[in-house]
Amino acid sequence: MSDLRTRLEEARAEGLAKIETAGDLASLDEARVRTLGRKAQLSQVRSGLGKVDEDERKEIGKLANDVQQQLEEALRAKRELFEAAELEQRWERERVDVTLPGRVPPLGTIHPLTKTIWEIVDIFIGLGYVMAEGPEVELSLYNFDAINTPADHPARSAQDTFYIEGTDEAVCLRTQTSPMQMRIMERQSPPVYVVVPGRVYRRDELDATHLSSFSQLEGLAVDEGITMGDLKGSLSAFARSVFGNDLEVRLRPHYFPFTEPSAEMDVECFVCRGSGVSCRLCKGEGWIEVLGCGMVHPALFEWVGYDPERYSGFAFGMGIERIAALAHGVSDIRHFYDNDLRFLTQFRGSA
Ligand code: DAH
Repeated sequence: MSDLRTRLEEARAEGLAKIETAGDLASLDEARVRTLGRKAQLSQVRSGLGKVDEDERKEIGKLANDVQQQLEEALRAKRELFEAAELEQRWERERVDVTLPGRVPPLGTIHPLTKTIWEIVDIFIGLGYVMAEGPEVELSLYNFDAINTPADHPARSAQDTFYIEGTDEAVCLRTQTSPMQMRIMERQSPPVYVVVPGRVYRRDELDATHLSSFSQLEGLAVDEGITMGDLKGSLSAFARSVFGNDLEVRLRPHYFPFTEPSAEMDVECFVCRGSGVSCRLCKGEGWIEVLGCGMVHPALFEWVGYDPERYSGFAFGMGIERIAALAHGVSDIRHFYDNDLRFLTQFRGSA
């Protein structure tokens, strides 16, 4: 029977050697079948045990258990080794480098015209104004008549104004934000300090300085004792804050139906400072036109029922595209509407 013992010792030695030489999980599995499987030496010895004497059977059975345990233990240890190595490899494969810079998601920006409106509105809020908005589809009554623009005024001609079909020219797309002066005064009594940004529409030929739809910002200040000095002080503060605090500002006489007297406000050219004959921005003028303004015409006060003897005020209106183009050196206002990211992203972060 020592033969069985020898066979078990062989099974142990060969089994351990096979397990030892297994290079990966697959060959380890093969080693398991070969050492513990049905056809393995160990199993065969076990199945032959029935024919062995009682005494010896116990002893050899014990030895077989011992060999089996040792082989199982060796298999388990090796399997753990492989599994740990595989886990290690997987960690290596799937490792995330948290020090790499993240991918920045593409973020939109606020449109430069919107930023310009916010900036201008902010300046006037700082001066005590409030902001209002009004309808883009407007009654011709407000767009023209109420603000002292008589029926024969050239601005009323169908050349400049988009009228709404079927209204016999009673309804139009507003050509200016000025009608909001009347809507605001109608619904409140003085004092009034308000700015109104908004879109306006004109039948203009498109070019570098004209669009058929653009934005304006209207302003109105009505109170007791308001003078042209207040107009100049407030609007100079605005113009300097947008274009440069050290710039000169001037008022140049002009005509608007809804103001008397009327003026246009210019700021000193911030490129040539008034010196350059060949300046591309001001074309040698030395001044840049910024807005239209004037003292509110008494006819407007009468229309809304304000006492023109008691109240006075000033109004102003400016084109947002023009201000934005001047402030940012944009040569063609159509760029603001092209939706070209190469243009728009240049305004990221700037006011
Ligand atoms: N509404 C004028 C325009 O569209 C701009 C303007 C000029 C508005 C003078 C005013 C003003 O309130 O006083 O050209």
